[in-house]
Amino acid sequence: MAADHQKRVICLADAEALAQAAAERIVARIAANAGRIAICLAGGSSPKKLYQLLATEAYRARIPWDRVHWFIGDERFVPAGDPLHNMSMAREALLDRFAPASNLLPIATDTNGPNESAEHYEQALKSFYGAERLNPVRPLFDVVLLGIGPDGHTASLFPGDRAIQETDRWVVAVPKPNVAPFVPRVTLTLAVLGSAREMLFQVTGAGKRAILTRVLAGDNLPAARAHALGETVLLADDAALPETCRAP
Ligand code: 6PG
Repeated sequence: MAADHQKRVICLADAEALAQAAAERIVARIAANAGRIAICLAGGSSPKKLYQLLATEAYRARIPWDRVHWFIGDERFVPAGDPLHNMSMAREALLDRFAPASNLLPIATDTNGPNESAEHYEQALKSFYGAERLNPVRPLFDVVLLGIGPDGHTASLFPGDRAIQETDRWVVAVPKPNVAPFVPRVTLTLAVLGSAREMLFQVTGAGKRAILTRVLAGDNLPAARAHALGETVLLADDAALPETCRAP
């Protein structure tokens, strides 16, 4: 699979249009795979509209629920059901109504700590993939959804944290995140998030414009370094789009 490290930026009018563009890309990736499909969801607030949209008749009917397996790219170490819990948000907005329970692969947080959760999830991912090592010609995920934090983090990979350098582990614990909520995290590492046919960033709102400018300039930030084996696409709404990306 030819890796393209460049992010393709697609600009949408607003958050609604962006969610629709993301939904269309996801169903296109699903339609392109006649076998078992793996989608890695994002946390934070940006993807909520997308999850709600996928739950509408127009989209849910286009998802072969028995063949799609749902993962999460990072989790806050809080109990399932907590308002901060990433997978719970996706479950409430979408998954609990349509996905078979056996196709949900959350990061467990009822363990002895984030390290144990990371080890368990790494084993679950390896067992789903069927190998201990990722093969560049056989991506783990069809789609990996991601957001960008105000400091340039993505998933729970924070600037300056040693988790960004990790090349051996698939999943690691992050005891102290740089930004709120200040709860320990568990995150997939860059190479594992990148083992995807498509990595799809969603970035909305004027508050993201400054960091998006830096990410697109290629600053040494986790969100800038993250890329897929296949296509890396960044959906930005008009408010988030840097001046430098605007047509003259
Ligand atoms: C998390 C995330 C994180 C998020 C970004 C963007 O658990 O917080 O996975 O990486 O995607 O911080 O968050 P917003 O969508 O809330 O802006």
